[in-house]
Amino acid sequence: MIIAVDGPSGSGKSSTARGVATRLGLQYLDTGAMYRAVAWSVLESGIDADDAEAAATRARELRLEISTDPRHQVVVADGTDVTEAIRDPRISAGVSRIAATNLAVRAELIRRQQALIAAAKPSGGMVVEGRDIATVVATDAELKVVLIADQDARMARRKAELSDGAVTSEQLRDQIVRRDADDSTVAQFLVASDGAVTIDSTYLSLEEVIDVICRLAKEAEAAD
Ligand code: DC
Repeated sequence: MIIAVDGPSGSGKSSTARGVATRLGLQYLDTGAMYRAVAWSVLESGIDADDAEAAATRARELRLEISTDPRHQVVVADGTDVTEAIRDPRISAGVSRIAATNLAVRAELIRRQQALIAAAKPSGGMVVEGRDIATVVATDAELKVVLIADQDARMARRKAELSDGAVTSEQLRDQIVRRDADDSTVAQFLVASDGAVTIDSTYLSLEEVIDVICRLAKEAEAAD
């Protein structure tokens, strides 16, 4: 079974997707981490992120290993463990410049994502999280979920994640609004695909959202 979980940043999709995969014994793929790893490598190599050709070449050449164990996330780029580095604010701020506009980078990562999904099928399947999973990467997913949450809830979650308190609420709101605008230029970003279920997590706990998705997964499996 393939479960697609799409949603904007701060909607809680990573924790949710990992929780669902753990509970159902499925593999897990964070496609955003792959875009982040390419952004990291472009930055590290001193390539101008707006040089589409050079960034695409970097993406194609990058040796990228990403674990698909929901309890143990490791991302290795060209032999360097970048699990922490790709969460750096520098990467968060710059990644959509590459992810949103560079179609050659997208094509390369979509190809790799589809290969990882195909490899997971024989062992039960995968929960795949991103923006374009149901619409582009895995259009035949058995369950398609779009996870949303209103801006204040997403801000509060981001703030809780950033434990150092270094950013003000205004800066956070700015970041979220700007990233939504940048990300929404992605081809088919969050266009509700056929049969997708939208879950608004604003007033639900993480466990409640995981419960809903696991129930939908069981129903989808029974209907198959
Ligand atoms: O979910 P995230 O914040 O880790 O995603 C990082 C960036 O990658 C963000 O700019 C959105 C983009 N992204 C994308 O364009 N397509 C995906 N399938 C996943 C992420």
